[in-house]
Amino acid sequence: KRHLISAADLTRDDAVLILDTAEEMARVADRPIKKLPTLRGRTVVNLFFEDSTRTRISFEAAAKRLSADVINFSAKGSSVSKGESLKDTALTLEAMGADAVVIRHHASGAPYRLANSGWIDGAVVNAGDGTHEHPTQALLDAFTMRRRLVGRDAGIGQDLSGRRITIVGDVLHSRVARSNVHLLTTLGAEVTLVAPPTLVPVGVESWPCEVSYDLDAVLPKSDAVMMLRVQRERMNAAFFPTEREYARRYGLNGDRMAKMPEHAVVMHPGPMNRGMEITAEVADSDRCTAVEQVANGVSTRMAVLYLLLGGSEPAVTLNNARTE
Ligand code: CP
Repeated sequence: KRHLISAADLTRDDAVLILDTAEEMARVADRPIKKLPTLRGRTVVNLFFEDSTRTRISFEAAAKRLSADVINFSAKGSSVSKGESLKDTALTLEAMGADAVVIRHHASGAPYRLANSGWIDGAVVNAGDGTHEHPTQALLDAFTMRRRLVGRDAGIGQDLSGRRITIVGDVLHSRVARSNVHLLTTLGAEVTLVAPPTLVPVGVESWPCEVSYDLDAVLPKSDAVMMLRVQRERMNAAFFPTEREYARRYGLNGDRMAKMPEHAVVMHPGPMNRGMEITAEVADSDRCTAVEQVANGVSTRMAVLYLLLGGSEPAVTLNNARTE
């Protein structure tokens, strides 16, 4: 049984295989009929206990483009609001024959619990758990960087060796940052985190990256700059920085973007706080890949579902995703 719980579980070869498979899937998206028969008869359940726009919709589109049946479950409006447990929810989904469960949960570790519980037989894909990990976001980010910095065809079989990636903002609450640090370093990139001291996680010294507090000094040395959303909903109001002060020190505006090398791109996983971590001028510029990242998310998630569910020819396997 295979799952995708953490970007840290992926080897370099696993990650390159997923990115290469995602390029194959992207070719399907370029065709007038954007569908493959590979997962016909299989059922994918999107189990979302926390809000989502991009991840939920793109997993749905990905599964449908592979011809799987899709069941969308949102905790809001379900029996979870009557107190039903994760276990009983999982047993209900198992009774419906789920081959894969894509789970987003506010509790860090919930996907790991589901994968190791014995409650369900299907593959588990982590679609974001608390402040822990969001591995498919990191994969679609790496896919976007490889396309932009290496090239669509030139990138096949390649990693991100020697590329300098800067991740800026609310690292403390960011599952996107954690997954990206793991995946990008596995792919050979050099990662620098830039954050206010109050938004740097305890224990960051053990992460395989540099930490800086000076955004202006790091920008000229960056091939990609990933801006993180300030996650007000996970913050104690007393520690919440003022919008103006945050934007002045850590926000990306047009003047700062001009300090980046000409080839460098601006990334954002979304949703964006325009005016806080990123100005509208930067968000809407040609250098910002936020919308491209969403499109790439469909191809990347098609690749993950295809590889985990063992789609028909060609038989490709994830070498080292966590197994039970
Ligand atoms: N990037 C991301 O996970 O967005 P959603 O919360 O809208 O899924």
